[in-house]
Amino acid sequence: MPGGPWPLTADRDADGVLTLGGVRVTDLARDHGTPLWVVDEHDLRERCRRYLAGFPGAEVTYASKAWPTVGVLQLVDEEGLWIDVASGGELHSALVAGVAPERIILHGNNKSEVELDQALEAGVGRIVVDSFVELERLERLAAARDTTAAVWLRITPGIDAHTHEYVRTGHDDAKFGFTLSLGLADDALAAALPLEHVAVVGIHAHIGSQIFGTDPFIANAEVTLDLLARWRDEHGIVLSELNLGGGMGIRYTHEDHPVEVARYGKAVLEAVEERCAAIDYPRPTVFVEPGRAIVGPSTVTLYRVGTIKPLPGLTTWVSVDGGMSDNIRPALYDAEHEVALANRRSDAEPRAVTVVGKHCESGDLVREHAPLPGDLAIDDLLVVAATGAYTEAMASNYNRLPRPAAVLVRDGTVRELIRRETYDDLVRRDVPVR
Ligand code: LLP
Repeated sequence: MPGGPWPLTADRDADGVLTLGGVRVTDLARDHGTPLWVVDEHDLRERCRRYLAGFPGAEVTYASKAWPTVGVLQLVDEEGLWIDVASGGELHSALVAGVAPERIILHGNNKSEVELDQALEAGVGRIVVDSFVELERLERLAAARDTTAAVWLRITPGIDAHTHEYVRTGHDDAKFGFTLSLGLADDALAAALPLEHVAVVGIHAHIGSQIFGTDPFIANAEVTLDLLARWRDEHGIVLSELNLGGGMGIRYTHEDHPVEVARYGKAVLEAVEERCAAIDYPRPTVFVEPGRAIVGPSTVTLYRVGTIKPLPGLTTWVSVDGGMSDNIRPALYDAEHEVALANRRSDAEPRAVTVVGKHCESGDLVREHAPLPGDLAIDDLLVVAATGAYTEAMASNYNRLPRPAAVLVRDGTVRELIRRETYDDLVRRDVPVR
């Protein structure tokens, strides 16, 4: 069990029961029910530390969209990462978590005036400007508050990272940012420079997510630094902050081989160093913005098997008590998360089964062709790897399933991070018409 896509403290006890943070998953299922997100606190903190160590001299920002739960934000904040938020709701969560506003960065391709004003009122550290109209809005709102907004211009650098179409952002024809090749980045700077209440202090370019190599990140650094040098030459301004976004991939299965953060950091920082020397540009403060790589690997989902339907010559369908409402990723991105038997050891020959959820939809997949022991039985517990990022964050109440609880485990102790939703929660916002 140790290694692979599993959290750092994953182990098996003498009975073959999976333990996380020294806690048996059978105890977690008994006390907290299933489905259950189990967060390995040591793993989560360690990922933060490895990023800080891997990017010396840079600033590391947690892209909170991956999992903006208050407890998670607090742990990441304690480890010294900045927090980026992509909506008023994420901003509110970060403020409730007690994150210092000056260490919060606001993103979004369509921030409302209310969200922008909320950010100005809170005094967030940076606002990433995504459009021309946002420059106007920000100038007006900041003037009304008699303040100046420190902004980064979001650049679309024309880098086509080879990842799922839905999580690519750096190519020219994207909804985000100012497209460099079309001259929009230059126009944005020209529009921003005369503004009295908007101070451009840097640029931002995020090229996509679940990317495995270092080359696209290096290319991003080079393209953005060249832009900074050109702006220096053309406008006489030297911007001192460069945010290269997030996007390094993680292991969801044994077949995934992402680059270690130490090598990723070294490659990016060396590329920055070399390019700065080549263009004679003072080294800007580099920001990186990982989301998935911080919270993804720390967490697993525990499910209980409810039915098993073997179809001779066809598929064996194994249904668990959650599904696309707590992890939409397989349905949305064809994502594959490794699955294992968690509550006991089995020496039975593995056979390929398809693990599905309990929703009224055939796309409700947990994992197709999962090699699970041939003696898999009803009431067994299954554990799904690397479910900390973009699962709870994208959860729904489809079929009115209450959303699962989340617990934090560490050194044999368990703390609740999110309480399980109740049926009353499900109807709380409904307004009866009779
Ligand atoms: N910065 C910006 C501006 C972003 O848009 C994102 C992710 C990140 C940073 C963090 O990227 P990460 O390090 O997590 O790859 N729901 C999809 C992923 C969507 C990513 C959205 N933006 C998934 O489950 O794969």
